[in-house]
Amino acid sequence: MKLAILFLVAMTILAGIYFLRERGASAAPTTAEITELARSTPPGDREAWLKLARAVLASENVMPMTDPEEPLNNRGEKSRVELGYQLFFDPVLSGDKSTSCASCHHPDNWMADGMPKGVGLGGRGYGAQRAGTGQELKRNTPTIFNVAYNPVQFWDGRVGSLEEQALVPLFAEDEMHQTSVDELVRRLRAIPAYREMFADAFGFNSKRDGSEINLQNIARALAAFERKLNITETNYDLFVRGRDDKLTTEQLRGMVVFFGQGQCAVCHTPPHFHDGVLSSIGVTKSPQKGAPLDDDPGFGAVIRKRDGFGMFKTPGLRNVSRTGPYMHNGAFKTLEEIVEFYNDGGGRGRGLDVYSQDAKVAKLDLNDQQKKDLVSFMKSLDSLTPPPVVPKQVPSGLPVVGK
Ligand code: HEC
Ligand code: HEC
Repeated sequence: MKLAILFLVAMTILAGIYFLRERGASAAPTTAEITELARSTPPGDREAWLKLARAVLASENVMPMTDPEEPLNNRGEKSRVELGYQLFFDPVLSGDKSTSCASCHHPDNWMADGMPKGVGLGGRGYGAQRAGTGQELKRNTPTIFNVAYNPVQFWDGRVGSLEEQALVPLFAEDEMHQTSVDELVRRLRAIPAYREMFADAFGFNSKRDGSEINLQNIARALAAFERKLNITETNYDLFVRGRDDKLTTEQLRGMVVFFGQGQCAVCHTPPHFHDGVLSSIGVTKSPQKGAPLDDDPGFGAVIRKRDGFGMFKTPGLRNVSRTGPYMHNGAFKTLEEIVEFYNDGGGRGRGLDVYSQDAKVAKLDLNDQQKKDLVSFMKSLDSLTPPPVVPKQVPSGLPVVGK
């Protein structure tokens, strides 16, 4: 009898624990439920917003950043990264020795150029100083921070690896306009410091005669350098790792909008804040309502199909507040303009005939405070570490970065 009672009591306790655990599990709210809860949460109740922000990270299963993958044949040895760094700032690579990669991807502009569209051939200076000095390129210059995490490169995703990408601007007629591989190799072989550096990075014999200087290794060194340019330390990241104090209440509210009602994370997915694919959001020629649709075919020209028309790569949003102007055409100057555009439902929402606009971009009904909060949240993705230092000199002895 006693045993039977004991058994019953034990079973009741076990069932109770089981019940509570089940309830605990189902009590973890979904993003939709969090969005509902947010509606009735007073804007100033920091404790409540902290809970909602933590809950949304949990429901979205947000992961912290990891190191980028490096290809088997380019493991990012220090000697390669150092060589790539020098090459990146050395105008010797360009046809007329006037332009380096850094002319357009400059540390002062967080490795972009701060202009709506890049300025190529004939351009002078670096970054935004180049405005009006040379041939305008077709698209906005993206930052090369975090490119290691891009499955495809360029706004239209036309190129796969960074090694492959590096050779495109090098030979492009309207960019660095190098016309001859032989000439390029000859130039670099004539510079003792490059002979040494290429031998350290790629050589496996004791001859330091420049025989490792070839196109493939130039591309590898540039790519190895780029793979180290990563923004991994932001207030957002510190918050994800447990530091409640790193986000303002405004940013906490913005985070809930970003993942919830704003639907931003569907494409701008953490930890890189992009999904690695291309889509069309119906970008217009200017941010004003009523502006016509931009006519760059984007991915459509890559796959030669109408289905890809107007599709571009989702840009990562790390450090985004510092790398405007925005979009493939550089037409949007501020994050506020972008939020307005999304709130209206993108190009289609603004009444334009956008052939392939992604269904996830639709009217959002955000109020003024939510819009502000969203912009504020994006600023929590600002880098806490500085951009690379411009070298004092480069092996060619030419002006660093270019003319
Ligand atoms: C004259 C300006 C200019 C120069 C010089 C230049 N770039 Fe670019 N870069 C651009 C523009 C503009 C784009 C975007 C083009 C597009 O998407 O069609 C771009 C895109 C890129 C991308 C792709 C980024 C992404 O997110 O898709 C990488 C990587 C890159 N450049 C690296 C380099 C390297 C390495 C060099 C030197 C060998 C270089 N660039 C020289 C203007 C320039
Ligand atoms: C369907 C996928 C998708 C959704 C949803 C989406 N975006 Fe985008 N976003 C893109 C694409 C694609 C681009 C580039 C478009 C172009 O240049 O034509 C972009 C560009 C941007 C840019 C410009 C970045 C730069 O470097 O130029 C910002 C900022 C941005 N989005 C923020 C947001 C916010 C905030 C939301 C939510 C309100 C959002 N996005 C929702 C796909 C998306």
